[in-house]
Formats: sequence, structure tokens, C-alpha cells
Amino acid sequence: MSMKAVVYKGPFEVAVEEVPLPTIQHPADVIVRITSSAICGSDLHMYEDRTAAKAGLRFGHENMGIVEELGSGVTVLKKGDRVVMPFNVACGSCLNCQTNKTAFCTNVNEGFAGGAYGYVAMGPYHGGQAERIRVPFADFNALVLPPGSEHEADFMMLADVFPTGYHGCILSGLKPGESIAVWGAGPVGLMAAYSARLMGAADIYVIDRVPERLALCKKFDGIPIDFSKGDAVDAILKMRGGKEVDRCVDAVGYQAVTQDGKTEQVNIVLNQMVRAVRACGGLGIPGLYVPTDPGASDEHAKLGQLMFPFGKFFEKGLSMGTGQANVKTYNRQLRDLIVAGIAKPSFIVSNEVGLSAAPDAYVKFQKRVEGYSKVILKP
Ligand SMILES: NC(=O)c1ccc[n+]([C@@H]2O[C@H](COP(=O)([O-])OP(=O)(O)OC[C@H]3O[C@@H](n4cnc5c(N)ncnc54)[C@H](O)[C@@H]3O)[C@@H](O)[C@H]2O)c1
Ligand SMILES: [Zn+2]
Ligand SMILES: [Zn+2]
Repeated sequence: MSMKAVVYKGPFEVAVEEVPLPTIQHPADVIVRITSSAICGSDLHMYEDRTAAKAGLRFGHENMGIVEELGSGVTVLKKGDRVVMPFNVACGSCLNCQTNKTAFCTNVNEGFAGGAYGYVAMGPYHGGQAERIRVPFADFNALVLPPGSEHEADFMMLADVFPTGYHGCILSGLKPGESIAVWGAGPVGLMAAYSARLMGAADIYVIDRVPERLALCKKFDGIPIDFSKGDAVDAILKMRGGKEVDRCVDAVGYQAVTQDGKTEQVNIVLNQMVRAVRACGGLGIPGLYVPTDPGASDEHAKLGQLMFPFGKFFEKGLSMGTGQANVKTYNRQLRDLIVAGIAKPSFIVSNEVGLSAAPDAYVKFQKRVEGYSKVILKP
């Protein structure tokens, strides 16, 4: 028995191929029939050959659908439940899981703290850009949604970008009434800025160079800063009469580019954040940094080492939080904000296409083509 899945073929190439249907491998597993699976900026790191991902990997860590088959040890989920899975795979029992750090589970990926679906080095879990997915430790990992099809695109955002953006704000230490600057108006950055609004931030600056992405700031009264027109920190300080912001979020990561939009500079956002934030402020860094990057342009970055103004960081008494988002720590509450009609994160969704259109969608998403800023695949 086979199904269709998005398979990584090599640099800048994915294909939709027939692969074996997933089966129950452990009593705690369920099989979910996928109704929506989103493409993510994190998939691009693999697609652009900036990771050790090998051909044959099945992509897709943002997954939702209907529970179709239950392992014998599943006690909470029922057949027919509508569910969304955190991109993290977690056991629910280890020290990190029991202290809400589900992104750093020590039982799901040998020799490593943290597992995910369809991602290089994150364990043996196939991605969900496919017709079905196997969900391990399913009672713990699957979040049950109201039945039906209402809010499908909003709930889809609970798999990764909405909780990840929210996590960025938490890492920064944001409090109501504070100001915040978010680097990157990709899905994660927009969700961080939107979360800041939900959390009661006052001024919210969003920095990017893609006009279509910056335009989405209007949805939550964010202040767009186009860094192709000049230094982002200068622009923010000028608008604020020289006053720094309370908090910063890096939703760009290690493939950050300079003003020309072409030249990568791995430390540019980190350096700008240290300049932009007030003394005793905080930096939240959900943007991805990697321990080795063979494709990097300088020798240090290849080893995951970067020039960082630690002296200034110390002098200002700053704090910093990093890492993968513990999606499960936030997804239940964020779901209920959607149900209550308070949050509507699907405003970032650009389009929905069938699974067979995935190769074309990857090409356009990678080129940041207008209309392809957050794509949901509908198998
Ligand atoms: N921590 C986590 O759990 C987690 C989860 C999901 C994604 N991520 C990471 O978050 C980052 C963002 O994800 P995304 O899906 O929004 O990616 P994306 O590629 O869609 O967006 C990144 C944006 O950053 C902009 N950018 C590039 N250089 C910049 C600079 N110098 N200043 C300001 N903006 C700049 C780009 O124009 C782009 O719009 C990625 O590194 C991704 O891997 C982390
Ligand atoms: Zn993602
Ligand atoms: Zn665990």
C-alpha cells in the first residue's frame, strides 16, 4: 500500500513520489490522515543545501489532520479526532518534557535533545507533506481541535509558526506596555510581532526588505522598517527620538542578508539587536543557528562560530534566550484564542495548493515570489 509524499531529491529539488503508507510501530502511535501541511522557512535551509539533509528525506513538520488508526496503548485520542501536531516529537516523560521543554526531549532522537518530523538530524520521523503521517507518543503530542473544518488555516499555524513567534516574545522577556523590534517578516517574524500585540506590547517594529511581507504589519498595527532603504537600527532610533526598544526578536537566523539582499552575513541581526535594545532589555532568538554550516562564506561560520559584541552585551546587562520552540507549552492556549475569535493567525497564509503542486510551490517560496509567503499543501 502506498501514498504520495514530498521527497527531497537534492539541492533546490523536491518531487512528489509514491512511498509506503506509514504503519503503527509502537502501541503509543497513531496514524493521521493529513488535511493540511504547511511549507516552512526551516524547510528552505534543507532545500537550499545548507544542512546535511540527504536525498530521500520526506519533508513536512507542520501537520494537521484526522486520526485514522490507533495503537493499542492510545487512551485519550479517538478515531476521527481532528488534531494538529507540534513540529516537535516528544516523549512526555523525560526531565525536559516534564518541565515544558518539549523541544529538547531526550528520548526521541538518540544522542540529541529534540526531535521533529521530516527534518535532518531530528530523528527517524517522516514528514507530513504527504497523505498520512505516523505520530509517536500520540496522546502527548497531538492537540485535539474542535471537529469540522472551521479555522483550518488558523489551527494549521499552531504546528509551528504561531507558537514559535510567541516563544520568541517569551524568550525576549516581553511585558505589557513594552516596545519590541522583530527582525524578519517571514511567517515566524510576523507571528512574533502578532503575538507581541496579543501580549500587550506598545510599539512593534518589524524589519525586512520584502514589501509584501512588511505590508502585513497593518493587520496588527505594526511599524514596518524596510532595511533595503537604510540601516534598520538607525531608522528605529530616529523614529523613537533616540530611545532604544525594550525587547528584540531575531526571526531570521543564520542565513541573514545585508542591505543588498544578496550577501549573507551570519551575525548581522544579532549585532543590530544589541545596538537596538535598551540596557537590561532582552533578546529572543527563535531564528535558527547551526553548529556547523559547510556552505557558510567564512571559516568561523562554517564551525558555527560568529563574531558577537559580547562586551556591549555585558555592559548593557542584557539577557538572551534561544532555541527551538516548545510548541506544546503554548499551543493549547493559542488554540483557545483562535476558538474565542481573538487570534486569527491565518492572515499570513498566502495560498493553498494540492500536494502535486509542491515542487512549484517550493521554487516560488524559495524565490520569495509574491503570493507564496506561507503555503499550505492540501493532500
Ligand atoms: N526556533 C524554532 O523553533 C523555529 C521554528 C520555525 C522556524 N525557525 C527559524 O526561524 C527563521 C524564520 O523562519 P521563517 O519561516 O519566517 O523564514 P523565512 O525565510 O520565510 O523568513 C525570513 C525573513 O528574514 C528576512 N531577512 C533576511 N535577512 C534579514 C535581515 N538582515 N534583517 C531583517 N530581515 C531579514 C527575509 O527577507 C525573510 O523575509 C528561520 O531561521 C527558521 O529556520 C525556528
Ligand atoms: Zn516550520
Ligand atoms: Zn521527552
